Amino acid sequence: MDYRELRQKFISFWQEQGHALVPSSSLIPQHDASVLLTTAGMQQFKPYFTGTPSPYGASVVSIQKCFRTADIDEIGDDTHLTFFEMLGHFSFGDYFKDKALKLAWQFITSPDYLGIDPKRIYASYYNGDRPNTTADDVSKQILESLPGLTKVVARGAVDNFWGPTGDEGPCGPNVEFYVDDVEIWNEVFNEFYCQVDGALTPLSTPGVDMGGGLERILTAVTPEATSLYDTDAFAPIIEAIKQHAPGVGENERSLRIISDHLRGSVFLLGDHIQPSNKEQGYILRRLLRRAILHLDKLGAVAGFEEIITTIINQYGEFYPELLKEQKMILQLAALERDKFLKTIADGQKELAKILNKVGSVVDGEVAFSLFSTYGLPLDFVKEEAQRLNKSIDLPAYDQAFAKHQEVSRAGVESKFGGHGLASGAVVSEADKQIITRMHTATHLLHAALIKFLGPEVKQGGSDLTTERIRFDFTFSRGMTTEEKQQVEDWVNARIKQNLKVLREEKPIKDALAEGALSFFKEKYPDIVSVYTIYNESTGEVVSKELCGGPHIEHTGEIGAFHITKEQSSSAGVRRIRATIGK
Ligand code: GLY
Repeated sequence: MDYRELRQKFISFWQEQGHALVPSSSLIPQHDASVLLTTAGMQQFKPYFTGTPSPYGASVVSIQKCFRTADIDEIGDDTHLTFFEMLGHFSFGDYFKDKALKLAWQFITSPDYLGIDPKRIYASYYNGDRPNTTADDVSKQILESLPGLTKVVARGAVDNFWGPTGDEGPCGPNVEFYVDDVEIWNEVFNEFYCQVDGALTPLSTPGVDMGGGLERILTAVTPEATSLYDTDAFAPIIEAIKQHAPGVGENERSLRIISDHLRGSVFLLGDHIQPSNKEQGYILRRLLRRAILHLDKLGAVAGFEEIITTIINQYGEFYPELLKEQKMILQLAALERDKFLKTIADGQKELAKILNKVGSVVDGEVAFSLFSTYGLPLDFVKEEAQRLNKSIDLPAYDQAFAKHQEVSRAGVESKFGGHGLASGAVVSEADKQIITRMHTATHLLHAALIKFLGPEVKQGGSDLTTERIRFDFTFSRGMTTEEKQQVEDWVNARIKQNLKVLREEKPIKDALAEGALSFFKEKYPDIVSVYTIYNESTGEVVSKELCGGPHIEHTGEIGAFHITKEQSSSAGVRRIRATIGK
C-alpha cells in the first residue's frame, strides 16, 4: 500500500461510517494558546468534546499536520519524527468504546483496508492506577472479543491515560494498538475534563479521539520497510538529497535528519511561521540550521532549494497552502540558509585561527564562545580539532555552557537541547515562567527519585523546553509502572502542599555539610546558592540542592506534574520526560 492509497482508504472508511471529512488545521493551534504547535488531531476539536455543537456533525475524520518537539533528539532513529501527519476519527458524544474499537480493528486487520496480520499486533488498555479513576474493563472486554487478537495488556496512566493537550481539557483512558512493538493507533476515550490543577471532572458527553501516525502505519504496511524513511512518503525526498550527495550510504543518519527537518520546515513556513529567535520561529530556525549543517557534512548544500521543492511537490496535492506559498517558502528558507552560512563561515575562520594558535588542547571557554557567538556546534569544533590531532577541554566547555545558562537565567539554550545550534535567542516572559516552574519541578522529581529508588540515583543532567522536562539520572534498570506512579504522585502531593522554595547564599562547605545535592563533577565557587523546598508549617525539608536557579516561590505554582516517558539513555543512565501544567 502506498501513501496516497493509505490516506484515501482511511478517509473513505470513516466517511462510509458517517464521518464528515474536516481539513487539517494550521500548525499554530487555535484552541490551545499554551501550546506552541499543534501536537494532535483533536486540538482543533477541543470545544466539541465539552458541549459546543460541532459544525461538522457529531463524528468526523481528519488527517492533521502535527509537530512534536519533544522527540527532536530521537530524530534519525527508525520510529520518530518532528513533523508528522496524524490520522484521526472523532466522536463528540456520538459513538463510544464498542463501535470505536470494533471499527478500528476492522480497518487495521481487514484485507480490504490495512490487512495487518493480527499475530503482529498487541493492544493495551488502562489499569486504573491514577487516583479517582478506575480500570477500563469495558475496553478490556471488547478487546478480548476481537477476532485474532491474542495479546491484551493492562498499563498505568503513564502509558494509557491520554491528555489533556495544553493547560486543560478533555482527557481519558486510552487503548493502544502496537504492530511489531511500535505504537500505531491510539483510541482515547475522553471521559474527563482535566482542570489546570490536575483535578478530573466527568464529561457529560464522553467522546472518542483517535490518533495514529500516518508514517508509522505506512511503515507497518510496507513489507520492505524497516524505518519510516523506507516508505514512499519519504522516498522522493531521500532521492533528492542523494542526487546531491552521491556516495552517501543508505542508512546515513544525516539523510534522515535532513529529510525530517526540511519536511517540518516546509510545513512550518507554509503556515506562515518565520525563522526567528523565539517560540515557533525558533523551532523553525533550529530545524533549518541543523538540516543545513547536515547537508554541509554531505557536501550537498547546493541541493537545498531542490530538496525543498521536492517536498512541496510531494505534499502540495494534499496541503494546497504549500503550493500557494511556494515562493515565500523558498525565499525565507534561502534567506535563513544564507544568514547561517555566513555566520558559520565567520565562525570557521575564527576556529581556524584558534586551532592555529593553541597547543594540543583547546580551552573549553574559547570553544564555547564559538558556539555562543557563531552558532558553531560542539561536534563541529571537535571534528575540526581532531583533524589536526587536537582536542577540546570538554569539562570546561560544559562549565562555560552552564555558566552561560545561569547568566541567561531562563536557560535559553536549554530550551531546545543542550549543545543546540542557535544562540542568543530571546525568550518570552511566558516561556521564562514555564521554565522557572520546571526548574522547581525538577528538584522535586530529583528528590522523589532518590526517595523511591534509593541513593544509587545521581542526577546526570537536565534539559528544559517549554514543552517538557528531560531529566537523566544514574540507575541500573528501568522503573516499574508502580515506581513511576509513586514518583508522580509524590511530586503532585508536594505541589498541592504549596511548599516554600527558599534561596540562600552560603559557603560551599556549609551547603555540602547540610547535605545539599550537587553535581559531583562540577567545580563550584566558594559561595553558592542553595534552594531548599520545605513545609512552612511543619519545617519538613523535602529537597535541598545547589543550583543557579531561577525558581518559583511556592511549589503550588507548578500545576500538575506528569511523567510522559521513562527510558534508557545510555548504559546505566535512565531518562525521564515529564510535563507540568502550563
Ligand atoms: N489524540 C490522540 C493521540 O495524539 O495519540
